[in-house]
Amino acid sequence: HFHAVIPAGGHGTRLWPLSRQQSPKFLHDLLGAGRSLLQSTWDRLVPLADPERIHVVTGEAHAEAVRAQLPDLPEENLVREPSPKDSAAAIGLAAELISRRDPEAIIGSFAADHSITNQLGFHEVIREAIAAAAGGEIVTVGVTPTFPATGYGYIRTGEPLDLPGAPSARRAGGFVEKPKASTARRYVFSGRYRWNAGMFISRADAMLAQIEANAPELRSTLALIASARQDGGRADEARRLWDSLEKRAIDYVVAEPAAEAGKVIVIPGDFGWDDVGDFASVASLRQPVPGEGSGVFATNEDTELVSVDASGVVLSESDRLVALVGVEDLVVVDTADVLLVTTRRHAQRVKQAVEEVRRSG
Ligand code: GDD
Ligand code: MG
Repeated sequence: HFHAVIPAGGHGTRLWPLSRQQSPKFLHDLLGAGRSLLQSTWDRLVPLADPERIHVVTGEAHAEAVRAQLPDLPEENLVREPSPKDSAAAIGLAAELISRRDPEAIIGSFAADHSITNQLGFHEVIREAIAAAAGGEIVTVGVTPTFPATGYGYIRTGEPLDLPGAPSARRAGGFVEKPKASTARRYVFSGRYRWNAGMFISRADAMLAQIEANAPELRSTLALIASARQDGGRADEARRLWDSLEKRAIDYVVAEPAAEAGKVIVIPGDFGWDDVGDFASVASLRQPVPGEGSGVFATNEDTELVSVDASGVVLSESDRLVALVGVEDLVVVDTADVLLVTTRRHAQRVKQAVEEVRRSG
């Protein structure tokens, strides 16, 4: 009864100008894998769930692109959102729709835009998570933190649990979404916290019960939306209800309060996870081609590149030849209408440029 859900939304502003509202990062082959991030997510879920049990929730504007990229995704498993309402609504609606088809379903939600290098390790952890979810709790996956990131959720690892099929399961003693820097430092140095890998595995009815307990209005609206969508004639009503929802992330609506109530389990999972959040992470995930003799590499193999005593990464969607001479650690992103030049060290700050562009219209 396992169903995988891929919420595919968000803008990825730190990956601008490659990631845009019209063309978000999950649709791009950022890692030179020959597959987009979304396609790679699909590929690693297929060994866990048949295509009939993989669901994608995405904005109406991206639905056609998703369909083209995932030809094996059944039409009825492609859930189109009228507007972006963040992950609680996206995952909640999927839980609502799936539990109506399969009341015993266990669902796992997996971000559309992550990189995982050890597929077998990932599958092993998720199989444990599925086993651990049978008791009606919310199961998370915790990655060993390597620096005091403020863009992740932190899970405090509690005592080991003795659950069948899930030998490494532990109680989550708390969940804190995106702490401030000083708190993040304290968590990392304590050695008692893990990063939330952005995966939530639970019975569908348990997820809905958690939404009900912490955001009853969201739960009741999602139920109305699911009924209106199922009744083909009420699409306008479904859209109106959806547009009335507040934007809220699943981490605040479910993970934090459920952990507070002692209802969250964490499975430690170190399988080469990266959330591909900015160009520094893209650069470190791309191995320079051995023997190429230069520290400059392009994520698109069609890019014509010349480098003289230079290092860095080039992401190009244009036909232009790119030449780097005597520069270090550069990130060059060339698209049809925008050219971005920054360094790995400052990659986090690309979103400031996006804000500036928005302000100046
Ligand atoms: N369909 C849909 N609609 N999906 C959405 C929307 C939306 O409006 N907003 C976000 N998503 C999807 C994203 O595409 C991604 O797959 C997932 O929900 C998580 O959303 P992000 O916006 O990427 O969250 P985050 O990166 O800030 O934080 C989450 O991920 C971290 C790990 O990368 C949290 O779960 C953190 O706790 C976690 O550490
Ligand atoms: Mg993210």
